Amino acid sequence: MNRRDAITAVGAVALGGAHQAFAQQPIICKFSHVVANDTPKGKGALKFKELAEKYTGGKVKVEVYPNSTLYKDKEELDALNSGSVQMLAPSTAKFRPIGLKEFEALDLPFVFDGDAGYQKVMDGPIGQSLLKSLETKGIAGLGFWDNGFHMVSANKPLLMPADFQGLKIRISGSKVADLYFRALGALPQIMAFSEVYQALQTGVVDGCENTPSNYYTQKFYEVQKDITNSQHAHLQYALIANGKFWNGLPGPIRQQMDKAVKEATDYCNSIARQENVDALKAIKASGKTTVHTLTPAQVTAWKAAFKPVYKEAEGRVGKKIVDDLLKAAGISV
Ligand code: LMR
Repeated sequence: MNRRDAITAVGAVALGGAHQAFAQQPIICKFSHVVANDTPKGKGALKFKELAEKYTGGKVKVEVYPNSTLYKDKEELDALNSGSVQMLAPSTAKFRPIGLKEFEALDLPFVFDGDAGYQKVMDGPIGQSLLKSLETKGIAGLGFWDNGFHMVSANKPLLMPADFQGLKIRISGSKVADLYFRALGALPQIMAFSEVYQALQTGVVDGCENTPSNYYTQKFYEVQKDITNSQHAHLQYALIANGKFWNGLPGPIRQQMDKAVKEATDYCNSIARQENVDALKAIKASGKTTVHTLTPAQVTAWKAAFKPVYKEAEGRVGKKIVDDLLKAAGISV
């Protein structure tokens, strides 16, 4: 063997070794989200990690980054798009920046008849067509994760629409939430989830809306004197993946990941209700805030104030999706 052949042979061995090592490297799937681990979405993400790693026999490693540790609200969609992360579960109120405004129709006030009404709509053609629309943006829509109904809060009781007059209320991004808070006389402001606690504490905003699990784990209840369990709108997430990543997974691995998605979705949706019941109990037990419930007459007053919102929303999110949703909800405007 001459010197050149010897070098080539050594190189081939080294390369062979490298190739073998490479073949054993797991596929890394980064899953970023903005809430605490101890919430329906946080637990769902950890369940997905457990199942995906189990079903793929460790061929996929899922790294979960909770609590905006990797990216904040809007950044995370950019990161998914560029392939810096592979999976997210943003609230459906946050899809407008990527040109999918129809998702915001799900924020329309009082359109779901309780948990069962919500589930029926999401399992039906509306949920399916929304998930499918993600494909046009290079995103794989994998399912919806539930987080129940919103409460709303400030440092004063919010019982009648007039109580909202002039209050600055943080919203997460939806133009529909913008409409319904304006209909109550409030001044909605979009702000990233990770900035809400401080904004409430320092008075940059007067109030916010969210579910009990988010109020509890982010400690919003410590800086809001009054919370109304109004259930005026619903918070849900779309579980999504970078399309190239998801569709490029080798066949058997893709099937194992699909199975993990299905089971983690069922798991998240099965715990969401109880997680929020428990969080509300803990908030009440803290003694740091007063939780109010609306009387039927107060609910009627809110619904009357919201009446114009359905028509106005058509211009913001599209007439067809609003019509479909109102029809499914049995609401005529
Ligand atoms: C919010 O920004 O209020 C929510 O979308 C946070 C979340 O993901 O639950």
